Amino acid sequence: MVRTIRTAARERWDEHAGWRGAVRQAELPGGQPVWVVAGYDEVAALLSDERLSLDKRRSGGGYAGFALPPALDRNLLNMDGDEHGRIRRLAGPAFSRGAAANLRPLVRRIAEGTFDALDEAPGEAVDLLDRLCLPVPALVIGELLGVPADLHPGLRDAATSMVTFDAASPESGRRLVAAIGWLTTTFTDLVAAKRARPGDDLISEWLCAADDARTLSEDELVSLAFLMMLAGLENAVHLCGNLIATLLGSGGVTAADWPARRRDLMERANPLPFAIRRFAVTELTVGGQTISRGDTVLLSIFGADSDPARAGRPSLMFGRGPHYCLGAQTADLIVDAVVPEFFARYPKARLTVPESELTYRDSWRAHGLVALPVALGG
Ligand code: HEM
Repeated sequence: MVRTIRTAARERWDEHAGWRGAVRQAELPGGQPVWVVAGYDEVAALLSDERLSLDKRRSGGGYAGFALPPALDRNLLNMDGDEHGRIRRLAGPAFSRGAAANLRPLVRRIAEGTFDALDEAPGEAVDLLDRLCLPVPALVIGELLGVPADLHPGLRDAATSMVTFDAASPESGRRLVAAIGWLTTTFTDLVAAKRARPGDDLISEWLCAADDARTLSEDELVSLAFLMMLAGLENAVHLCGNLIATLLGSGGVTAADWPARRRDLMERANPLPFAIRRFAVTELTVGGQTISRGDTVLLSIFGADSDPARAGRPSLMFGRGPHYCLGAQTADLIVDAVVPEFFARYPKARLTVPESELTYRDSWRAHGLVALPVALGG
């Protein structure tokens, strides 16, 4: 029987362990057919296998995506090969390991300012997603790219409309269309504003490079700004939220323990169960199963990372190969500045509802909380 991919966040690790073994046929909640691959060796190899493409034009027709307009669609997560490499070379340096070292003071400053504002919170419960987990990554990535803070709440809502989109629900379809319209206008206007008045930020820098060398079309530039901001914000907000929620339910973490525990904790709190969907460009055989050209393939990061056959090898939570997460170092810096510091500042913090009553968004794409209600405890 073909299984449907579920959205229940609490059961996510068990569900993905259940996908392991032979490559399996499955359905997305909207009924679209996919193959799920969940063994460490297979996922690690397929993440950089050129026989799988991220370009939707390679889909044999069984996949319905977000139907983004070209101004958002021409992004790194829809491209392969030279086209992808050209844009990645432009965007990569600012997010390299070396650049991340220079980023540390910025991340620290923003985290400190956010904690100071939280200190002024009255004694009642606060939503830590709103007060901590959103502002830190949004301000960090926003400052790098030049995306003003008044847009951050709208960006978070738009990201949620995207990750919770369910092709079978007209209501979620309406939310998605509204979000895409807003994102298109917002990023198109932002790029136009930078062209008129460049700032000391990455979008302005990319814009100059694109205009000078004609290396990037206008759609590619707007799409790059959109992807960096949205991928960064959505994933970092929910990684921090999931981490703090888990730790509040299990006695917290001390600054001394954090370095030794951070990797395991991060993997467990990873909001992304699957890598970006891929399409077979040719017939291929995986785990004895034939996948036809044009079929959609989902690589389960949760399945791979929890596979006993992984045997201590590196986590795949930030991917591998040409699409390895551009923001991995930034994400590390943000998590290090937010999570241990939260428990150092608020040793008495507690959830105001039992952990079992925390509500997660209804999404198979990304597991994150709707809210994180916490009493800071003086
Ligand atoms: C915080 C937790 C994060 C996780 C778990 C995460 C995970 C991932 C994964 C798994 C991929 C590879 C997708 C694939 O090959 O299918 C990826 C790609 C990407 N990530 Fe992240 N990411 C995170 C944070 C960020 C941040 C903070 C940024 C931006 C500052 C970012 C920007 C990107 C971009 C632009 C790509 C596409 C790279 C490409 O296609 O060349 N991510 N991420």
